[in-house]
Amino acid sequence: MKLIAKSAEMQSISESHRLAGKKIAVVPTMGYLHEGHISLIKKAKELADVVITTLFVNPTQFAPNEDFEKYPRSPERDYNLAQENGSDYLFNPATEEMYPGGFHSAINMTGITDKFEGEKRHNHFNGVATVVAKLFNITKPHIAVFGQKDYQQTLAIYQLVRDFLFDLKVVVAPTIRENDGLAMSSRNVYLSSAEREKAGVIYKSLSDALLVIEKGENRRKIINAVLHNTLRSVHEIKIDYASAADADTLEEPDVFLPGEHVILVIAVYLGKTRLIDNALITIPNDPHIKKHYFV
Ligand code: PAF
Repeated sequence: MKLIAKSAEMQSISESHRLAGKKIAVVPTMGYLHEGHISLIKKAKELADVVITTLFVNPTQFAPNEDFEKYPRSPERDYNLAQENGSDYLFNPATEEMYPGGFHSAINMTGITDKFEGEKRHNHFNGVATVVAKLFNITKPHIAVFGQKDYQQTLAIYQLVRDFLFDLKVVVAPTIRENDGLAMSSRNVYLSSAEREKAGVIYKSLSDALLVIEKGENRRKIINAVLHNTLRSVHEIKIDYASAADADTLEEPDVFLPGEHVILVIAVYLGKTRLIDNALITIPNDPHIKKHYFV
């Protein structure tokens, strides 16, 4: 695997692969790779001839009060993991390479990014969109692979690709979980062992809500109450949001109809660590649940 730090070099390598008729997949990451990232690299390898993993902790997607400085970093370990799992290139630019003096542009996202993460993390999606657009122009991929763990981010990326006509396909791969269901995340390393033991409640609350939906519940308030009640069983948890929403638009109707895709989204603080998770479900086509949306 080749380590590349300069955008111009990465662009020219990608261009030569394109001219040779090779299919390129990019896996954008902020490093501190875990099984979740590895599954994305493996997915990219399945779909393309050339895999580029990018490693850049993007300052513009962190608010001043957030964890940019202490975000975990381990570039050597990341290099080895990316290589072992089939990446052909690791693009690891310095901050000045991505945002040199004179860089004064930013993408401003609205709509799908206004609520949930967008509301709680001011400017976050503008930073994500700006860096991802730049990474697309540097790596020139046919395919870009993202994780479902950052569900709203995947909607933002679809929007970005549609709005700017990026000529690539976005692929979203499933969340990879620890044994107790905790979604793999670079930020899990912040958890103390006591907090880590309690973190499984996030997945439990998603599972409880999925169960009531499967049994016929389609009222948003009741589904949200199930999410909140399970989360509240752990006193150390502070809920940032926990809601059911339309999986495509993130709208929050009172009642979801059979066949509609629903996303359950959660963000909580466990101690000082902010964790997010989500689960997708289709409202079952079961006639007995009609009573909920005809009343
Ligand atoms: O999901 C992430 O790790 C980041 O938001 C991304 C897409 C690499 C952009 O910095």
